[in-house]
Amino acid sequence: MHQTHQIKEASEFIQSKTDLAPEIGMILGSGLGGLADELEDAVVIPYEEIPYFSKSAAVGHANQLVIGTLHGKRIVAMKGRYHYYEGYSLDEVTFPVRVIQALGADKLIITNACGAVNKEFNPGDLMLITDHINLVATNPLIGPNNDDLGTRFPDSSEVYNRELRNLAKNIATENNIDLQEGVYTWWSGPAYETPAEIRMIRVLGGDAVGMSTVPEALIAVHGGLKVLGISCLTNMASGILDQPLSHDEVIEVAAQSRSKFVQLIKEVIHQM
Ligand code: 6GU
Repeated sequence: MHQTHQIKEASEFIQSKTDLAPEIGMILGSGLGGLADELEDAVVIPYEEIPYFSKSAAVGHANQLVIGTLHGKRIVAMKGRYHYYEGYSLDEVTFPVRVIQALGADKLIITNACGAVNKEFNPGDLMLITDHINLVATNPLIGPNNDDLGTRFPDSSEVYNRELRNLAKNIATENNIDLQEGVYTWWSGPAYETPAEIRMIRVLGGDAVGMSTVPEALIAVHGGLKVLGISCLTNMASGILDQPLSHDEVIEVAAQSRSKFVQLIKEVIHQM
């Protein structure tokens, strides 16, 4: 359970470094952290300095909180996130979401690099997350409920806010950015799925599969944040193509999609 006093201590520490009270939070996934570099007048705080943030997150992630403005909107961005497969508890994985909210944000843009399960999709495509399937037999809200933060049994009928989804779709259309839509499936990792597991996920209704996002989205909804989820489909999931999966490819393709990803998110923020 996230403790009110820990959230307060972390957010007060961040507030001691900047006068900017963010209205929008962003979690930037693998290969997508570059968006944080677009923030103006940015204050950068390494996670390790923030009280109750866990130590050393994934290699290859910057692991910094970046606070600044974009199109005049006040943003707090996580450049790098904590993953469950690294051994962090779901409390540790999702603590930053509580802090982002405590700083004043009421919207959260969650991004990730993930695999395409839907055969109509192509590597490099962006996907608007319409809903999710939790295939990891746990939930970040297990344990005593902190009633200061949210209700015991949160509604999950609209985890990914409809208004924000419509906004993202309209912006994609207006700017000629191809934007797929689909259901994101959370897989613990760190091993990628087998071909049989991918067939199972397809039967269950998953369009994409990845190792993040769902814990953060559930905590955000518990706290009453409006969530927008955008995935970068970096590769076809296991067994779809006759080739093995590699993390290097994930990072490379995410980087190649950088410009349309940045364009889409920037414009969404502009109009939010
Ligand atoms: Cl195919 N699966 C999972 N679980 N995560 C991924 C991925 C696949 N591709 C990128 N991230």
